[in-house]
Amino acid sequence: MTEYSTESSFLPDVHPKVIESEAQSAQEIRRAAWFEARGAREQNKTRAGIVKRRSKLRARTFDFLFGAAAKTVKTLGLHDHLAARAADLVLTELDFHFHDLPPAFDGYRILHISDPHFDSLRQLEQAMLAVLGGRPVDLAVVTGDIADRFNGPWKTFLPPMRRLISGIAPADGFYAVLGNHDSWRMVAPLEALGVTMLINETAIIDKAGSCISLTGVDDPSNFYSPEADRALWTAPAGFKIALVHSAELADTASEAGHALYLAGHSHGGQISLPGGLPIMTGMQRLRKFSRGAWRHGGMDGYTSTGAGVSGMPYRLFAKGEIALLTLRRKP
Ligand SMILES: [Fe+2]
Repeated sequence: MTEYSTESSFLPDVHPKVIESEAQSAQEIRRAAWFEARGAREQNKTRAGIVKRRSKLRARTFDFLFGAAAKTVKTLGLHDHLAARAADLVLTELDFHFHDLPPAFDGYRILHISDPHFDSLRQLEQAMLAVLGGRPVDLAVVTGDIADRFNGPWKTFLPPMRRLISGIAPADGFYAVLGNHDSWRMVAPLEALGVTMLINETAIIDKAGSCISLTGVDDPSNFYSPEADRALWTAPAGFKIALVHSAELADTASEAGHALYLAGHSHGGQISLPGGLPIMTGMQRLRKFSRGAWRHGGMDGYTSTGAGVSGMPYRLFAKGEIALLTLRRKP
């Protein structure tokens, strides 16, 4: 069962139906304000991370360099080979151990997908399903960058997402947050496909009265707002998982008592130096969490190298992945 946590859901001695309608209207009002603010920032191309605004000149420079590199690769006749290699994903399987995991969730399998950028690589969902190989999944989460371009044919993410959802068929549903490449306009069509979008919101996963929570926030790398911090801090007590496009809010989530933090955004550098050392992470802070498993305070984290690509359809020393994460209860 899934329900949204809002301040009104904690009101005492009110009929549950009343709580539900108040919670829904509070969510609708808050989302309407968010749609307006996010839409304005997308329209004005106003990008701001937690530390500072994103420079438009810097973005144009990288667009130019990526375009020039892609042209060079095509001229050398290497495009098809390198693009096929970029779509050659791995399945990373990891166990995370927690003392405070509710016993009902011991062995719980979360499929973590990040950064598919579906309009950049064709049939990427087929590569994901192939590498997953039919393994059972309790919950699937996408930590942003479902699409690649705001102003491109952005609805191209819908058919692959539909195939991915039906191919994985997670028992407890499919959840997602937006990345810096995703538009507010994607929320409604994704929800119509059955994806629960978490826009600075918390969902509760309930197994026979035993619960864990999922808090998902809007992208902090380019569309940061204090609403993201508020959502992380106001998640209900208990075993808490944070879904954030980038790892840049790891310190806040750790202080707020989250047990696990799932992120992407960096693509592991996408074009990295030998040994997987990223040249660029797209992060303004906490770059040490730009790839793989990490720990901050009492919180575990995992930053996916992402499934898709952006800028140019190639990867170097940064293989794409999806991750099957199993929650284990420490005795
Ligand atoms: Fe991305």
